[in-house]
Amino acid sequence: MGKPLRIGMIGYGFMGKAHSNAWRKVAHFFPELAHRPVLQVLCARDAVKARAFAEVWGYPEVETDWRRLVTREDVDAVDICVPNHLHKEIALAAAAAGKMILCEKPLALDVAEGEAMVAAAERAGVPTMVWYNYRRVPAVTLARQLIDEGRIGRPFHYRAQFLQDWTMAEDVPQGGAALWRLDVKSAGSGVTGDLLAHCIDSAMWLNGPITRVCADTETFITQRLHQETGRVEPVGIDDACIFMCRFANGSMGTFESTRYARGHKALKTLELNGSDGSLRFNLHEPEYLDFFEYKARETGQKTPSHTTGWRRIHVTNGEHPYMAHWWVPGLVIGYEHSFVHAVADFLKGLESGVPAQPDFKDALRTQKVCEAVLHSAQSGGWIETGLAGPA
Ligand SMILES: NC(=O)c1ccc[n+]([C@@H]2O[C@H](COP(=O)([O-])OP(=O)(O)OC[C@H]3O[C@@H](n4cnc5c(N)ncnc54)[C@H](O)[C@@H]3O)[C@@H](O)[C@H]2O)c1
Repeated sequence: MGKPLRIGMIGYGFMGKAHSNAWRKVAHFFPELAHRPVLQVLCARDAVKARAFAEVWGYPEVETDWRRLVTREDVDAVDICVPNHLHKEIALAAAAAGKMILCEKPLALDVAEGEAMVAAAERAGVPTMVWYNYRRVPAVTLARQLIDEGRIGRPFHYRAQFLQDWTMAEDVPQGGAALWRLDVKSAGSGVTGDLLAHCIDSAMWLNGPITRVCADTETFITQRLHQETGRVEPVGIDDACIFMCRFANGSMGTFESTRYARGHKALKTLELNGSDGSLRFNLHEPEYLDFFEYKARETGQKTPSHTTGWRRIHVTNGEHPYMAHWWVPGLVIGYEHSFVHAVADFLKGLESGVPAQPDFKDALRTQKVCEAVLHSAQSGGWIETGLAGPA
């Protein structure tokens, strides 16, 4: 039995559930870890609903005010699973109380808030992590491994998409549970912070810093009923965003995200084209990584022309990232496992003293790109992100 790490969870929505599941599962599938997470206390404003969730997931205690949760002596790590406008205030209070902090993405509403969070965590000396979980889908982690092994050669192009279609109806309201995403006061931005932030995190992890961007955004439905005020109010978020960019390594990038791509539910894609090979991933088939090998690294030889072609790697072998912890080759894992991997890496980071990434500081870099994208869409020109080299 490992050393208990007592979790204080704030929020019981989509992510509260995904994280509770991850904290519960990790010790079973990563038994070698020195820490054993314990679901200690769940916080949400509605005591009845909070208790019902706590019972299902096995939290013995409930709080209705996050301020009490973050100062409890029986909490070691605070897990922030609430809308974006609350991230900073909770993180600052948790850091002041000396707690480890795991915060959902995006780090904050904007760069200024993110910088305050980084400073507070550094002052307190507490470990942090931001849940950019797609890095830990084994096929995406394998993409990073192939890049690090030098199989792609000089990178030329990176392209990414995150496409959904769930806000196309005019009568979808804004504000409140789940729909806070459409309310700019709670979300900070629309698809840029919600969806492209994931794409940007994956991109910079795989292909290095984005140095400048040129973007265009659109809000297709400009007013919606607000669930909390009961009034029809202007919509302040971006419904769609496209941007092109340059990476520090000289490659070019194109990114697109929308919630108006009829038929697409959560199509997150990435593709990297280099001199020696290409990589391609899409979240609707998460167990596959497509790899085109133009030149084999081992021999330095070009693949014979009559055998060239895209290879579909079924990322389920024990040799593939994380997969030795799950089933036998050929059997797939899914979305929720990326969160289990995030927890496992966070706990490994505590043991080794090498913090799991992205921590607050690394996630601030993604926030800077998001902010540059939104500024560029307003100004209509190229904007420098201020990022030059690795974190
Ligand atoms: N990593 C990912 O893939 C991913 C996916 C979805 C959401 N997110 C992020 O997770 C966060 C939460 O999103 P969600 O989809 O779980 O939202 P949600 O609407 O499903 O849940 C939000 C929760 O926050 C609670 N809450 C709101 N205000 C509160 C307060 N003052 N005190 C305590 N609890 C409060 C709500 O009761 C609810 O339980 C957001 O930052 C979002 O961007 C990340």
